[in-house]
Amino acid sequence: MNGKLNKKITITAALPYANGEIHLGHITSTYLPPDIFARYSRSKGYDVAFTCASDDFGTPILIEAEKAKKTPEEHVAFWNKRDYEDFTALGISFDFFYKTSSKENIKLVQYFFTKLYEKGHIYKQNIIQQYCEFDRKFLPDRYIIGTCPYCGAEKQYSDGCENCGRAFTQGEIKNPKCAICGRTPVQKTSLHYFFKLSSLASKLKNWLTSNERLQSEVKNYVLKWIEDGLRDWDITRDISWGVPIPLEEAKGKVFYGWFDNHLCYISTTIFHLDNTGRNGKEFWNSSEIYHYIGKDIIYHHYLFLPAMRLGLQEEYKLPDYIPTRGHLLLQGKKFSKSRGWYIGLKEFLAKFPPDYLRFYLTRITPYDQSDINFDWDDFDAKINNELVANIGNFLYRALSLLQSKAGGIVPEPTKFDDADTKFAEKIKSIASIVGRQIEQNELDKALKSILEFSSSCNEYFQHKAPWKQNVGNENCLYLAINAARTLGILLSPYIPFSTQKLAKQLNVELGKWDSAGELTIKPKYEIGKPEILFKKIEKEQIQEQKAKLKS
Ligand code: MF3
Ligand code: ZN
Repeated sequence: MNGKLNKKITITAALPYANGEIHLGHITSTYLPPDIFARYSRSKGYDVAFTCASDDFGTPILIEAEKAKKTPEEHVAFWNKRDYEDFTALGISFDFFYKTSSKENIKLVQYFFTKLYEKGHIYKQNIIQQYCEFDRKFLPDRYIIGTCPYCGAEKQYSDGCENCGRAFTQGEIKNPKCAICGRTPVQKTSLHYFFKLSSLASKLKNWLTSNERLQSEVKNYVLKWIEDGLRDWDITRDISWGVPIPLEEAKGKVFYGWFDNHLCYISTTIFHLDNTGRNGKEFWNSSEIYHYIGKDIIYHHYLFLPAMRLGLQEEYKLPDYIPTRGHLLLQGKKFSKSRGWYIGLKEFLAKFPPDYLRFYLTRITPYDQSDINFDWDDFDAKINNELVANIGNFLYRALSLLQSKAGGIVPEPTKFDDADTKFAEKIKSIASIVGRQIEQNELDKALKSILEFSSSCNEYFQHKAPWKQNVGNENCLYLAINAARTLGILLSPYIPFSTQKLAKQLNVELGKWDSAGELTIKPKYEIGKPEILFKKIEKEQIQEQKAKLKS
């Protein structure tokens, strides 16, 4: 038991590009699930490091900064701050939020390169690069738009296809055009460094097949990519914004963003832990590691990321879990900011409480790669029927009846009848059921179990009808107020703002996860003032949101 309590857990969420605001799509797959898991893990008493950072480098950021007439440094500093504020408003409880352009990350990236080079996993080669004579620029990645060489999808950037999910190298894209001026580029020679992904194929395959904790659907998909043959990976860019390649001969060249960004999981976590008086590297290597992502970046996280750590002989531990979830649709259609089919996080939180979003998104997001649909009517129904009418109703009744029937003082229970005994049993057993589901990453199912528990609280209350009499309701009031605390603990990873308020109304600290089954609110204890926790959503609020989408 003791060993378990000290379990170390590293949790990361895919790094947001410092290039635009956080929207509901990001939240659903990438930020809310790890936050729930981190909050749960802390409540279990595990030693948790939950970190994230802004993804600062790369051509798209350089292009946006140029458009906004800002330096890339100014541009990423703005978004780093803004993203962190938005995350905080939603209650995403990072222990530390940093950046890929930190000096710690740059140092680690250069170290990885040097090691991989020494070990023969990297080679150099002169290659033909697209160059725009009009703009006088090399045109990596998003500076080129063309046709996918695999599936034929048009308007793809030169580093990968959004349609079929493949990553590829710059020479492969068909019908290339300069993204700045639309002209056809010419070809120029440039010295590039390549990561020999192919030489690590069998190690990768081993790691994938032996890791039982990775989702099998994703694993099969990735194993097929390996079967098809892995291409060596160009990690060089002829631009100024990135981690400099630490070689004299490579002056002026930087690394491709996907070579440096995921190393920031490591550099940020270690930096944070070292700063709080622990040995970060030791923690990393002895912790259970979770990297939360959305399905659009599977290739990078199941191939590039492990390959680089394998190439350093696991000097830095590989992930145990890469929880991968699907895309969010809005009213059945793909999000699109340019077409106005879109909801920004900040905009949403100006209209509804953060816990409503946390509750709803968790309810509709399974632990797999299927697409998830944000639907305003469904949001309305789930909040009003489940959060308000089920959970909110029970909590308010438990508190307010204790107030009206016993002056807010917990009564001394008498001998339990069958219903009491059964209910006390439920209180005792629910936390381990829910906990098991959370540890299996089934956050939606765990929330369902909590809702069922809350329903049975309501049924018990209905059956006992403590409002009908002034004596003989002691057991009911006593058990119900304890069940309210239990619910508070179970819900605290999901809707932390509300459970914080509940704790105040109960006049207790909610306590750790493993205490959720105990009846810790004792007779004679005086609770605080009951208040309605969740306000019903009105039809007009939903109409207003739908109208916004159409305009
Ligand atoms: N910024 C990338 C994206 O939004 C994700 C980076 S995750 C990391 O797709 F692993 F690379 F850090
Ligand atoms: Zn051009």
